[in-house]
Amino acid sequence: MIWLAIALPLLLFLYWLLVITEGAYLGSQVVAWLYDLSAGRYDAIKQFDLNDENYFLALPLLRALNGVRAPIVLDVATGTGRLPLALLRHSGFRGKVIGLDLSRRMLRLAQHKAHHHRARLYFIRQDAAILPFADNVFDAVTCVEALEFLANPRGALQEMARVLRPGGVLLVTNRVNWEARLMPGKAFSNSTLRAMLESVGLSRIEIRHWQVCYDLVWAWKN
Ligand SMILES: C[S@@+](CC[C@H](N)C(=O)[O-])C[C@H]1O[C@@H](n2cnc3c(N)ncnc32)[C@H](O)[C@@H]1O
Repeated sequence: MIWLAIALPLLLFLYWLLVITEGAYLGSQVVAWLYDLSAGRYDAIKQFDLNDENYFLALPLLRALNGVRAPIVLDVATGTGRLPLALLRHSGFRGKVIGLDLSRRMLRLAQHKAHHHRARLYFIRQDAAILPFADNVFDAVTCVEALEFLANPRGALQEMARVLRPGGVLLVTNRVNWEARLMPGKAFSNSTLRAMLESVGLSRIEIRHWQVCYDLVWAWKN
């Protein structure tokens, strides 16, 4: 019985460390490795609804970019290309998107799904901790369902704000409800999030409930 008393908490801890938090406390290479392992199942697990993607992500983003003829968008932690594809499917979007991710296999799937949009969608394998772009270049920067898996979400937000042009829009998600409580330091209260975004030069912050465990957060660069 003593072995059970030792093994059970250890197994629960490992489950939390590797499955629930997807390696987020073990560094970006571990997270990317876990995504490499599960990439082939990602879309089947998530079962994205194209109408939802259009209604909650693409349309509001297009509205926020209203007036920019050919916007340049950076999607950080793009995964299998969910947000770029939602935008590019939309006839009203005339711009280009760069999808950045650290997982080779997630990017390979994204590339495969996006081959019709090769001329307007580019992928780059890179850690979101350091964005390899000059200051003030993107009309929009997005990061959907990923902030909590980054080694330093605050630092990543700072990088996203740096590469966003003045007047540009940031769209990120923040974990909420019980799932947020399982990821201390990776999900934020609304007041903390507002303060963080303001400290990196963003304003007009809007936090809207989206899914059971995610809020959508909009902010504009001053
Ligand atoms: C839950 S998926 C979200 C993917 C996509 N944004 C979506 O909504 O389907 C999280 C993604 O973050 C990526 N990721 C995790 N840590 C990263 C890092 N440090 N730099 C870049 N991408 C990272 C993973 O490889 C994975 O593709």
